[in-house]
Amino acid sequence: MTAISFTLNGRPVSTDIEPHRNLVELLQRFDLFGSRESCGQGLCGCCTVLVDDKAVSGCLYFAVWVDGKRVATVEHLDADGRLSPVQQAFIDTGAFQCGFCTPGFILMAHQLLKEHPNPSDDDIRHYLSGNLCRCGAYPEIIEAVKLAAKATSKAAA
Ligand code: FES
Ligand code: FES
Repeated sequence: MTAISFTLNGRPVSTDIEPHRNLVELLQRFDLFGSRESCGQGLCGCCTVLVDDKAVSGCLYFAVWVDGKRVATVEHLDADGRLSPVQQAFIDTGAFQCGFCTPGFILMAHQLLKEHPNPSDDDIRHYLSGNLCRCGAYPEIIEAVKLAAKATSKAAA
């Protein structure tokens, strides 16, 4: 077991974990299930987690690597009790079917809008190209990101 301390969704936490466990498994020990392991190979984006504000694949990221870092999951986006603009937009546009891929898409869309507040369709496609939706909800996902961009810029005006 290895002792690690890190910031998880804004609060400091410490735990012991086996060195071979990945970040998805670590988060499950804190009852956080939004990051899901699917392909296990860094190909689908279902396991996306933000570490020090950078998106990583939780399936390929060793849990012990978060020692001393800031970790944020999809559960943190509505930390003030309200859905984030991206979360709300995914609901309003029906941008999911089974929902398995949705937390990963939402986290990446959140990052996209931080970097490009007014993205084109191509920007969205390019930025989200590492996330796969097996239900094929891509048109609605693009609509959701554009809706969230509008809502975010309106709120900032
Ligand atoms: S489960 Fe990690 S990228 Fe697919
Ligand atoms: S909504 Fe089912 S995989 Fe995307």
